Amino acid sequence: MFELAPSILSADFTRLAEEIEAARAGGAKVLHVDVMDGHFVPNITIGLPVVRSIRKATDMVIDTHLMIEEPGRYAVEFVKAGADMVSVHVEADAHLNRTLTAVRDAGAKAGVAINPATPIESLSEALNYADFILVMSVNPGFGGQKFIPSTLDKLRRLKSVVQSRGLAVQIEIDGGIDETNIAEVVEAGADLIVAGSAVFGGGDATTSIKGLIEKGTVWV
Ligand code: DX5
Ligand code: ZN
Repeated sequence: MFELAPSILSADFTRLAEEIEAARAGGAKVLHVDVMDGHFVPNITIGLPVVRSIRKATDMVIDTHLMIEEPGRYAVEFVKAGADMVSVHVEADAHLNRTLTAVRDAGAKAGVAINPATPIESLSEALNYADFILVMSVNPGFGGQKFIPSTLDKLRRLKSVVQSRGLAVQIEIDGGIDETNIAEVVEAGADLIVAGSAVFGGGDATTSIKGLIEKGTVWV
């Protein structure tokens, strides 16, 4: 089975509590929060104060995706703000062991995010102390981009490495996922599937989530 993680990046921030409640009502248990710093990615979004507010508003699992440089400076702060999961980019952190261990010690799940052009071989060591890997299926920075098809093969290869090494590492996928391709990413091995514009980009979020879960469940 897979879990759906709606990304609030495409939500209406003036009605954030309502949007989160609509996502929960549709069956989502995880909320994906995209943190961007304008350096690691060419966009600036939200940070610690918003995570603190969301923590007060919901008991959903808060999954913070840090698209920031030097994420080790902030990762534990996000756990203290209420995040249950924190991912940092392999391309942005020269001290992954230190960062992931600190996140775990602070009581959250520690993840490594990986850009489309970064090979899975760069995760070889970190797989030993990560709880999850976030595979980017678009270049990070913006919602509403097109899914990069070669990600499916990358996902299959990563799943096979995780299984062959007998690891309990979960695989998350993020970017360009909608009703037309969710079944393929489930089939390729994704455990947690992020969807932003397909959930909040128009129409009712509750209905959109139910549609995505239904389309993804066909292959399970
Ligand atoms: C992109 C973010 C994604 C984004 C996904 O950099 O990491 O989480 O919100 O949005 P969609 O589903 O619209 O591609
Ligand atoms: Zn994300």
